[in-house]
Amino acid sequence: MSADFVPPIRADLVGVASYGAPQLDVPARLNVNENPFSLPAEIADAMGAAVAEAARGLNRYPDRDAEGLRQALADYIAVESGCQVPMGQVWAANGSNEVMHQLFLAFGGPGRLAITFDPTYSMYPEYARDTFTDYETYRRTADFGVDVPTAVDAIALRRPSMVLLTSPNNPTGTALPHDDVRAIAAAALAVGTMIVVDEAYAEFRHDGVPSAVSLLAEFPNLVVTRTMSKAFALAGARLGYALAADPRVVETLKVVRLPYHLSAVTQAVALTALQHAEVLQAQVDLLRRERDGLAAWLTDNGFTVAPSDANFILFGMFEDRAAVWNGLLERGVLIRQTGPDGWLRVSVGTPEENDMFRRALLETTGADDQEGRT
Ligand SMILES: Cc1ncc(COP(=O)(O)O)c(C=O)c1O
Repeated sequence: MSADFVPPIRADLVGVASYGAPQLDVPARLNVNENPFSLPAEIADAMGAAVAEAARGLNRYPDRDAEGLRQALADYIAVESGCQVPMGQVWAANGSNEVMHQLFLAFGGPGRLAITFDPTYSMYPEYARDTFTDYETYRRTADFGVDVPTAVDAIALRRPSMVLLTSPNNPTGTALPHDDVRAIAAAALAVGTMIVVDEAYAEFRHDGVPSAVSLLAEFPNLVVTRTMSKAFALAGARLGYALAADPRVVETLKVVRLPYHLSAVTQAVALTALQHAEVLQAQVDLLRRERDGLAAWLTDNGFTVAPSDANFILFGMFEDRAAVWNGLLERGVLIRQTGPDGWLRVSVGTPEENDMFRRALLETTGADDQEGRT
């Protein structure tokens, strides 16, 4: 390394730390909203066979447009949400992170604005920075919803090219009412704005909570993003996707994606998981029950809980949340310090991990010294 060479790094990137939650080897890793269950052996074996088959063809570039996989995603959505979305309106990439990055490449850019509602997913400002897109946030309400008149006014006044709505939202876990999404999508349509609903946690929503997928037929400016990282227990494989009301959106994402962005191995793994969607759904059902049990337990023990339709819970309130976070870590439970001051976020783990969390939390907060507490 030469002493006088200074790499000509973009000024706005100099000294910026890379994104990343701690990856620590502790007994209960409940900090990044992963699915805590490893894939059932039959599915892992089927993936192994599919990867072996794909390996024989790795001398060739993969199917650039991943058409088989996109059709399988459309078929899955037809069952999961009861909505038919043609393959030409489905797009897949390496995680919904990459899908969102591509959406920013396509709809953001210099002189363009994206708006969203805080607290929300911490990666959005990074996509904006990378693509030179202006980024503005408006506060969510006290119950972590979006105030519709504020959103409608902001859209009319600021005329962003993109509005991001996250439902269920990270880090709060809260889902937006359907009518709110509809009203915001209508305001966006009126000024020619794209609306992107990030539904990374959609499969964990309570029964009766609709998905924005059902609004695709109504709003030509709507894109819904989903991921296989959570419900499909496939965070390590990296597969996210978008469902767009307008096929021209997908055609444009093909323009901005890198060549052959989705490896043949990723496509084979994701296709195999989709073929076993029903088996994986049983894990999702168990996690939803665990989530509701954990939320009720937290409430019973005097903590404040944001209502969650996701596989994690935001809870509080703590005068010194860092101390609680550290106390849990000392007891082998890693959760996340995120969200507004005073709150912590815990991902729903296996029943055993959730028990560890409960015990560690009572010990850390001293709540187990009080009578009647278990
Ligand atoms: C709201 C939200 N969107 C998108 C993602 C990205 O998921 P992935 O890139 O693994 O699909 C996450 C990950 O935690 C998330 O919380």
